[in-house]
Amino acid sequence: MPEIRVHKAHLQDARNVFDLVNSLSGDGTLLRRSYAEICENIRDFTVVEEENENFLGCGALHLYGPHLAEVRSIVVKPESKGLGAGGLLLQALVEEAEEHAVLSVCLFTRIPEFFEHFGFRVAERDAMPDKIYKDCQTCPRLYACDEVAMVRGPLPKVAMLGPRTLQRPELVTLQLSSTGT
Ligand SMILES: CC(C)(COP(=O)(O)OP(=O)(O)OC[C@H]1O[C@@H](n2cnc3c(N)ncnc32)[C@H](O)[C@@H]1OP(=O)(O)O)[C@@H](O)C(=O)NCCC(=O)NCCS
Repeated sequence: MPEIRVHKAHLQDARNVFDLVNSLSGDGTLLRRSYAEICENIRDFTVVEEENENFLGCGALHLYGPHLAEVRSIVVKPESKGLGAGGLLLQALVEEAEEHAVLSVCLFTRIPEFFEHFGFRVAERDAMPDKIYKDCQTCPRLYACDEVAMVRGPLPKVAMLGPRTLQRPELVTLQLSSTGT
């Protein structure tokens, strides 16, 4: 089995990231990302590669603030699945969140079983308003979403992003209906 390793992405990885992420955006597996968006956010990305630097996949950790981070755009090339690359990536992203002292990591997915291997659990999507305001409100599938919200660690108790009518970023206290911790 070839040795695989992860490292933080460099701008030189942006093209590979763009091609792989968008190869799975057509059926909604991943959100479409423009090349500009990937370049701008390249420091969110971690890549996984073989010893010979052959690119195998990528994933991103988006920081909303000290209360919450999100795993995004995690993907391994179809021919490289099942080698542990996806797990290695996810582990690296979780550790990155821990380095920032962010305990709550969320994601939206159609394959919760994969993420359950790594300590994520299904959660109510309303418990992650930052994610809703960042992506969902502008998503064409807002009212037909088939993704499951998941979180690792405690549910966030605050949110950074609020309704678009807010003039400036504020910390908004969440009024949670559930008793989640
Ligand atoms: C999900 C994905 C990143 C997994 O990558 P991978 O390299 O094949 O995963 P790994 O080989 O590291 O698997 C780690 C573990 O998860 C399990 N697993 C992998 N894919 C799984 C899936 N789709 N559903 C459930 N379990 C899965 C493996 O069996 C393995 O379990 P084990 O440790 O008990 O053997 C990859 O299948 C992929 O790119 N999918 C398409 C993109 C996608 O759906 N991304 C998620 C968007 S939220």
